[in-house]
Amino acid sequence: MKEFDVLVVGSGLFGAVFAHECVKEGKKVLVVDRRSHRGGNVYCENIQDINVHKYGAHIFHTNDKDIWDYVNSFVPFNHYVNSPLADYKGELYNLPFNMNTFYQLWKVKTPQQAKDKIASQVASLNIKEPANLEEQALSLVGPDIYEKLIKGYTEKQWGRKATELPSFIIKRLPLRFTYNNNYFNDKYQGIPVGGYNKLIDGLLDGIEVRLDVDYLKSKEELDQLATTVVFTGQLDEYYNFRFGKLQYRSLRFEHEELSVPDFQGNAVVNYTEREVPYTRIIEHKHFEFGTQKSTVITREYSQEWQEGLEPYYPINDDENSKLYKQYKELADKETAVIFGGRLAEYRYYDMHQVVGSALHQVKNFLSKK
Ligand code: FDA
Repeated sequence: MKEFDVLVVGSGLFGAVFAHECVKEGKKVLVVDRRSHRGGNVYCENIQDINVHKYGAHIFHTNDKDIWDYVNSFVPFNHYVNSPLADYKGELYNLPFNMNTFYQLWKVKTPQQAKDKIASQVASLNIKEPANLEEQALSLVGPDIYEKLIKGYTEKQWGRKATELPSFIIKRLPLRFTYNNNYFNDKYQGIPVGGYNKLIDGLLDGIEVRLDVDYLKSKEELDQLATTVVFTGQLDEYYNFRFGKLQYRSLRFEHEELSVPDFQGNAVVNYTEREVPYTRIIEHKHFEFGTQKSTVITREYSQEWQEGLEPYYPINDDENSKLYKQYKELADKETAVIFGGRLAEYRYYDMHQVVGSALHQVKNFLSKK
């Protein structure tokens, strides 16, 4: 008989939800993480009493009431509404593209005026079959919105010219013809009161978590401890990269503490011109309506991923999808390992999706036992 029923590798949202549900059903669970903290990418570092989103801004949003109630059962969420701004050459525009943006661009006041303006800009270009991302975006929103709010930001995000990027990256560009700056259309939105660590603490309450433990470095030994392994790390790494490495985009974060109470008056400001090297500045206190005397800001830079850097965004092009499929075939044959989460499934998951996926997988697992 093994000491634990389940060994969960990774204390991010997927691992924490999976572990919690198993313990609720009387299973003995051990969680390990190679980082020196719990929570994976939702972890917040407390700096000057401000919860700093260490791995990028995280805003919880969902249309699913069950998932909203689930996360709120561990910690209440506040009523933060994401309303980012775009700074282009010192001029400010509201996002997502809405009547405020159109007024700022053209001084148009009615939805019809805005629609006519966009239609005339698009028509003047006469693009029939967009050959790249630039042409695709131009054919959807015309040159003013594209040049000021899309081009530079996208080129920084991808590290490539928009003319060298495939058109399928942008399928549609949501245009909103009301004066509504709420970025998300979802019914529920907010930030845990006191930060995301409270959510993770609630999920992992009473569960043994060993930090600074790389499962793959002590696999044989750790496998002896539990009957089932739940692996939330990189799938290609689990198989020692035997078919090659999956690719990612990475990010670099530059945190700065400032002795002013408010730096930019908003949590998120995107910098949409190519010449500014970062893509956005996050001012963390605004996620929680902070009233601290000082503030912490983070400049976010997009960069190519290479070994040693955090793998943030999977590159779901044909080549990587094919490679992932090869690994997935191996994973499907495992009988004592469950793979889940953004790294093991090599897909971009929002938090509500990762919670939903973990609840689904754990339900399957528990029903088989
Ligand atoms: P996550 O990466 O969080 O956890 C995996 C854990 O496994 C890590 O702690 C890692 O250390 C550990 N691990 C890996 N290999 C290991 C090994 N060999 N041994 C031991 N431990 C190992 N979503 C949203 O809804 N709203 C938002 O605003 C954002 N914002 C956002 C910004 C940025 C920059 C990114 C990259 C992502 C977002 N997200 C988001 C998505 C969100 O971060 C994501 O859905 C969850 O954090 C994924 O949780 P996981 O548990 O899958 O992975």
